[in-house]
Amino acid sequence: MDLLMIVNKENRLSKKFVPIDLVEIKTIIPGSVEVDRKIYLNKIVADKWLELKKYVEKLGYKIDISSGYRSYEYQEKLFNKFISKKGLEQTLKIAALPGASEHQTGLCFDYEKVYIEDDKIKSSLNELDIEYKIVKDVAYKYGFIIRYPKNKEEITGYKFEPWHLRYVGYEVAKNIYENDITLEEYKSKILIK
Ligand code: DAL
Ligand code: ZN
Repeated sequence: MDLLMIVNKENRLSKKFVPIDLVEIKTIIPGSVEVDRKIYLNKIVADKWLELKKYVEKLGYKIDISSGYRSYEYQEKLFNKFISKKGLEQTLKIAALPGASEHQTGLCFDYEKVYIEDDKIKSSLNELDIEYKIVKDVAYKYGFIIRYPKNKEEITGYKFEPWHLRYVGYEVAKNIYENDITLEEYKSKILIK
């Protein structure tokens, strides 16, 4: 598995692509879109996520995963669901077409803050949340990057997503964080060198 693989609007995966090294990971976030709430991630990514989560929990905040590996077929369902709610133009800015989602690699996930409201477990995340403010500055230490940062929509092809973390390993994540660039920019820089 190439931990730096790029999957975006220009670089798509085939319908048959299923990553190896997936492990199941628990979440307390109740199911919204996933049918059975079984969340899978690449083994290395799962280990690093648990370390990051532990760090955030030690500070007194609760976060968990709302979406991990997504199959081609699942992404197709999700994309169509978005279209019926928001129309094609808006959907293309926030959700990937099947084959164009890096969720199909198992190398990324969406996390959210978790809280109780009306005796129910709820979850959400926006850029003003303390959980995001903590994660954005420590994520690189665990090998993660904010994959769709603010003001980079022209490069990534998607609106800012504070919740979507992508594993690229410590060295690359540090470089991307310190230079305030995207994975696309990092990879093109390497190719030019
Ligand atoms: N929301 C991201 C872009 C995806 O659908 O993979
Ligand atoms: Zn995501």
